[in-house]
Amino acid sequence: MVAPNWVVRQLAGPHGLFARGFARLLNAANAAESARAVQVLAPERHHTALDLGFGGGVALPALLSACADGRVVGIEPAIAMRARALRRWAWAAAEGRLSILDGAAEAIPLAGGEVHRAITMNTVYFWRDVPAGFAELHRVLRPGGRLVVGVAPAAHLRAMGFDEAGYRVAEPEAYAASLRAAGFSVTEVPPPTQAECALLVATR
Ligand SMILES: C[S@@+](CC[C@H](N)C(=O)[O-])C[C@H]1O[C@@H](n2cnc3c(N)ncnc32)[C@H](O)[C@@H]1O
Repeated sequence: MVAPNWVVRQLAGPHGLFARGFARLLNAANAAESARAVQVLAPERHHTALDLGFGGGVALPALLSACADGRVVGIEPAIAMRARALRRWAWAAAEGRLSILDGAAEAIPLAGGEVHRAITMNTVYFWRDVPAGFAELHRVLRPGGRLVVGVAPAAHLRAMGFDEAGYRVAEPEAYAASLRAAGFSVTEVPPPTQAECALLVATR
């Protein structure tokens, strides 16, 4: 079913009056795939883990509990989502275990090699420049670090009207090619026919 343009724009960055509702909606819709992604990511206790474009923050609690002696960094361009995360996980921010930063894939505000693990779920369609975003993720990950990229089925996004709204719709293999070009070794590329969110697994 085609979603109205304003709905797709909310998905691209929840904002304004509807931001809270969309954050809740995103968290409910993406809870299962987020849990699956964190499991595949396999962060360790001492790790620094990055969630790029965390939206409503559905993955943040699992990352915080996995990186119990480490740190979680959430980077998000939408100001309403950053404010919400700072309210909800104020305790973790106060303990220095959670950093919420303004940024985007194309310019990640972290030093080279600062993170052990990174996930970015349902965000790549909205990036202005996918090769630049993957190059940035390659820069901030340590050698041997793991990246999990979650993408919804292209057919589903097309049916929702993502193309018309000007966002990127691509099959997992196209993202895998872009990850390889950025220097990653891609270990898992799900088939384009998969009905659920596809998880691409890449190693720095
Ligand atoms: C559909 S939501 C997904 C949120 C969350 N990752 C999840 O799975 O529930 C897309 C998110 O990508 C963020 N986003 C948009 N453009 C981005 C960019 N260039 N870099 C990083 N994140 C971006 C949006 O602000 C929004 O929070």
